[in-house]
Amino acid sequence: MVKKVGVAILGLGVVGGGTYQTLVKHREFYKQTQNVDVTVESVLVRSGKRVKELGIPEELVAKTIEEVVANPAVDIVVETIGGCGVAKEYILAALNEGKSVVTANKELICKYSHELERVAKRNSCGLYYEASCVGGVPIIRTLLDGVQANRITEMMGIINGTTNYILTKMTQEGAEYDEVLKEAQRLGYAEADPTADVEGHDATYKLSILASMAFHTKVPYTKIFREGISEVGRKDIQFGKELGYTLKLLAIAKNTEKGIEVRVHPTFVRDRHPLAAVNDSYNAVFLRGDAVGDVMLYGRGAGAFPTASAVVSDVIFAATHADVKYSTFKNTANADPNVNFISDFESAYYIRLFVDDKAGTLTKITGIFARYGISIVVVDQKGRADPTATGDAARVPLVVITHKTRENSIKKAVAKINETDLAIVRSVIRVEDQ
Ligand code: HSE
Repeated sequence: MVKKVGVAILGLGVVGGGTYQTLVKHREFYKQTQNVDVTVESVLVRSGKRVKELGIPEELVAKTIEEVVANPAVDIVVETIGGCGVAKEYILAALNEGKSVVTANKELICKYSHELERVAKRNSCGLYYEASCVGGVPIIRTLLDGVQANRITEMMGIINGTTNYILTKMTQEGAEYDEVLKEAQRLGYAEADPTADVEGHDATYKLSILASMAFHTKVPYTKIFREGISEVGRKDIQFGKELGYTLKLLAIAKNTEKGIEVRVHPTFVRDRHPLAAVNDSYNAVFLRGDAVGDVMLYGRGAGAFPTASAVVSDVIFAATHADVKYSTFKNTANADPNVNFISDFESAYYIRLFVDDKAGTLTKITGIFARYGISIVVVDQKGRADPTATGDAARVPLVVITHKTRENSIKKAVAKINETDLAIVRSVIRVEDQ
């Protein structure tokens, strides 16, 4: 017999609307393939505009969250409002009524999953959040059900579509960050306030959730080193390209014998690396497991239907499983005190300097790197200055690529170089797969 399941949708923005349309469109299909008849029984929205646009019957529109959770026809509540304000309050109200919750809210899950999961467990209901990370790419299901046989040692990915779109355009068109950002905002790829995406907060929330699952221990977002893309210059992308590198905003998580290393920052990867070919607003996550080896997932990390794909797959899971699935790590507010988080991580580096084009400069600069134990792979001077010039006109860009070294050594060497009157460091970018 086909099981009947009622859903409420809170918020009808891009994701809520896509979820409604997917559920309506595929109702018969889910009956046939999943043996479940999922119907939308209630919606809660701020304005009626979207209700009309989506053709939702007026009688489904609830006035309050109390009305939604008291509705006996509602079994599962889908939250697509976002943020940590009313979304949290509404989710708690649903869980406290014993309704399973499906959410796309990465910030809320990253910051409060411990609290929400505790309430879910107390009420024997589910809390599912596949859509919170990497949109339509089934990364959470993969970590929970696909690669659980493995110890995951490493995860690396492009998990923010906005920044990948901006970096792709800067690379392909040789354009500056500000120009591309404006274009991305005009086309709707970037928000009017782009801070959460371009400064790496969004990727940090997602990495916290994914690394916690991959390494089976709480990885709070506050432990993640974060640097956004707003300072990235067109010149760096161009110079990197000349050396065979592509620039991406990467989320990196490594589980080593010395501890856990988690970071989000612009990163040069070799042009031949699979992540270098992930362009525009696409996302991809690369996993390394001790049994399976390397696995890569690729797809749309945002958008109405890709994200609805993840939301609805959670709805179907919640509708078809009597047993509830909770996170596989001790879900606490803070990290386990026994886990060491490595802040002085190792990486190779790309450093762009602006140097006096005269004999002896290079020796002094490489001498400073040597003093901090930093070994150099490439030194590439870009052009020549007029030997009669003075001031900035007597200087040229110089690109240095280092072997793997420690973050703190680079910081110290950069500070020392900036103290000289020979050179100034314009940018420092980490390099994977150097
Ligand atoms: N703002 C996100 C991105 C999409 O640009 O990838 C939702 O997580």
